[in-house]
Amino acid sequence: MANCFLTPEPDMFQALTSVGEMLTRNFDTLCRPGLLICGQLEDSLPLAMANEGPAPQVFSTDYRYTQWLKDHNYQQLEFGSEPTDGTCDAILLLMPKAKAEAEYLLAACLPLLAEGGHIFIAGDNKGGVKSAPQLLAPYCNRVNKLDSARRASLFHGTLSRSVAPFQQADWLKNYDLPREKLQIYTLPGVFSAEHLDTGSSLLLQTLGRLQGRVLDFGCGAGVIGASLLKRQPELELEMIDINALALEASRQTLARNGLNARVYPSNGLSQVNGKFDQIITNPPFHAGLKTFYSTTEELLHGAIHYLKPGGRLTLVANAFLPYPDLIQASFGNCETLAATGKFKIYQATKS
Ligand SMILES: C[S@@+](CC[C@H](N)C(=O)[O-])C[C@H]1O[C@@H](n2cnc3c(N)ncnc32)[C@H](O)[C@@H]1O
Repeated sequence: MANCFLTPEPDMFQALTSVGEMLTRNFDTLCRPGLLICGQLEDSLPLAMANEGPAPQVFSTDYRYTQWLKDHNYQQLEFGSEPTDGTCDAILLLMPKAKAEAEYLLAACLPLLAEGGHIFIAGDNKGGVKSAPQLLAPYCNRVNKLDSARRASLFHGTLSRSVAPFQQADWLKNYDLPREKLQIYTLPGVFSAEHLDTGSSLLLQTLGRLQGRVLDFGCGAGVIGASLLKRQPELELEMIDINALALEASRQTLARNGLNARVYPSNGLSQVNGKFDQIITNPPFHAGLKTFYSTTEELLHGAIHYLKPGGRLTLVANAFLPYPDLIQASFGNCETLAATGKFKIYQATKS
């Protein structure tokens, strides 16, 4: 059953980004034994580096990216919410979108680096890389810009002091969901890290009683899954996400509210097995990023294969998105259960 509709994307990350291209000019400096790469990995940079010198160790919080590297027989690879593999001599952080996530990754990875080790930060000039000197100030006496090209920059510092062991719990934040009597726990960069999303709130208000086996697709910090379980502890709930920090946040949200579900990584429905009575989602949507559209489009197309007869897909979406046509094409029906100016709740039933 797994992966019965996802089109393979063998070359999804093959092309170098402009950051990757800029870094190829610095391979003499970067291709060194004991290099750990982390952060916004979205191209074939580790493969290109392995062609030039020792293969760097990769730590990624993105399940889709680690699967892609695995498919290219890359071995020096760890997926998770914090690195656990040994020590390193240098670190290259590819600047993530959220500055808080960059701070988190430095705090998580730098304990692996010995004093005097090299720290590199690279990123798109419009993606926050200019804050590298500020990010490295707690760790390095001096930070230099090594290169700038193709609208991307590379910064370097040397670890000047010993770093405290990483404690993930220090990075957990929480907020109340009074209506559901829940506390939601989040980690940097996870969707809806500060408060409940308006779309997810409308979805929760619209959902009636559910039954049986339920999938929370793209669980984020676990807002939807935890709310459903709080209302109906008897549900057999599975929660999936592509992001290791989201999965860890969901696990914390469940554990700290005394709830239980199966939480695991999946790119789309690729790791999901069997059929569900209900799939619930506030699916990924970020304007301009093609991959986020295609994840949701693939879900709308493929969810029917993961539902039992009479099973339902219920989702919230921005009102302007053309999802009803896609849902109708796959299910032959699409109900609008609720609508505000901004959001709509759609539901489709497998006949
Ligand atoms: C709009 S957020 C919703 C989060 C949470 N359910 C909520 O309501 O607050 C969408 C979630 O989908 C996840 N996601 C993005 N692409 C995905 C993919 N290909 N497969 C599974 N999850 C994905 C994101 O990491 C994010 O947590």
